[in-house]
Amino acid sequence: MVEGRNFVPTKGDIRSGVGPMQLASAASPSGGYADDIPGTGFMGSPVAGRSSTRYMSPSESTQNAPLEEMASTPQPPGGPAAVAPLISVKDLWVWAGKKPILSGISLDFNDREVTALIGPSGCGKTTFIRTLNRMSDVSPGLRVKGLIQYKGQDIHSRSVNPVLLRQRVGMVFQRSTVFPMSIFDNVAFGLRLIRERRDVISERVTESLRRAGLYEELKDNLNRSALTLSGGQQQRLCIARALAVNPRVLLLDEPTSSLDPSATQKVEDLLFELKREYAVVIVTHNMQQAARVADRTAFLYQGKLVEFDETKRLFENPREKLTESYVTGRFG
Ligand SMILES: Nc1ncnc2c1ncn2[C@@H]1O[C@H](COP(=O)(O)OP(=O)(O)O)[C@@H](O)[C@H]1O
Ligand SMILES: [Mg+2]
Repeated sequence: MVEGRNFVPTKGDIRSGVGPMQLASAASPSGGYADDIPGTGFMGSPVAGRSSTRYMSPSESTQNAPLEEMASTPQPPGGPAAVAPLISVKDLWVWAGKKPILSGISLDFNDREVTALIGPSGCGKTTFIRTLNRMSDVSPGLRVKGLIQYKGQDIHSRSVNPVLLRQRVGMVFQRSTVFPMSIFDNVAFGLRLIRERRDVISERVTESLRRAGLYEELKDNLNRSALTLSGGQQQRLCIARALAVNPRVLLLDEPTSSLDPSATQKVEDLLFELKREYAVVIVTHNMQQAARVADRTAFLYQGKLVEFDETKRLFENPREKLTESYVTGRFG
């Protein structure tokens, strides 16, 4: 389980790749935010000179490729969004037993854009984003078919280590998943898993809290329990924790559904900052939120992609009748 309020990661969770696994970053010798995965990376043979900590499941341990493709595309600093999408999904199907949950979805996500996924409850939004970093692997009973590429690489190929994938494609859940430990330790969690150096951890924690817009609010006491934070701060702390391990894509599953309007606004403001450096995918069933924050919006209904377009166009001049009915509040 990952999504409980007091989720404490166990070794089993770590092995299965759930929760903190996605937090653990490649052990960058520079300790910086460089978009690289050094050597053969993360778990099996970490950076030379450090002792190896094996958190991978046996099946994952054979998939210890460098993922260089995943990591190496240079990004022009402050430049325009890359032409090629960061994530490309082609004809994705997901079944639970014989029941189709997602039916033939094709969709691209661009770097430095916010993409919103909207649709009524149960239409498959959460399932969809969980397939993007293979969190769906750890959902019992789901069968996935179709092509998902991250930076052009098939994420289901044998050469892809899902643990590394989940660092690059990080996820923040609907309910905040702060761990019952200090603010600092929450953000440092993934870095400690890979035995990052103390000075590097400290630097990254500060930087991630800054990027999540929390540092100024919390800097006076990072040793305070994270459970004492407000709901909105906890959600931003989860974002900081995802940022600490150097992602390229952030998947946010209804991150403000349990927040009050002012905390919601802070998270929305943060999205504008984050999209300068990351691809952001946000699931929301709040259409006003999608209209405010998203560059492009996809409307899903009963597991199918009905329409995907520039947000303004989708809301103001949709091509499909079904989209129009949904965005004008006739159902949902
Ligand atoms: N592991 C699973 N096993 C069986 N059914 C599932 C599983 N995960 C999701 N579903 C079903 O898939 C449908 C879509 O769920 P979900 O992706 O959570 O929708 P949304 O996030 O849009 O509300 C629901 O009917 C849900 O019950
Ligand atoms: Mg959902």
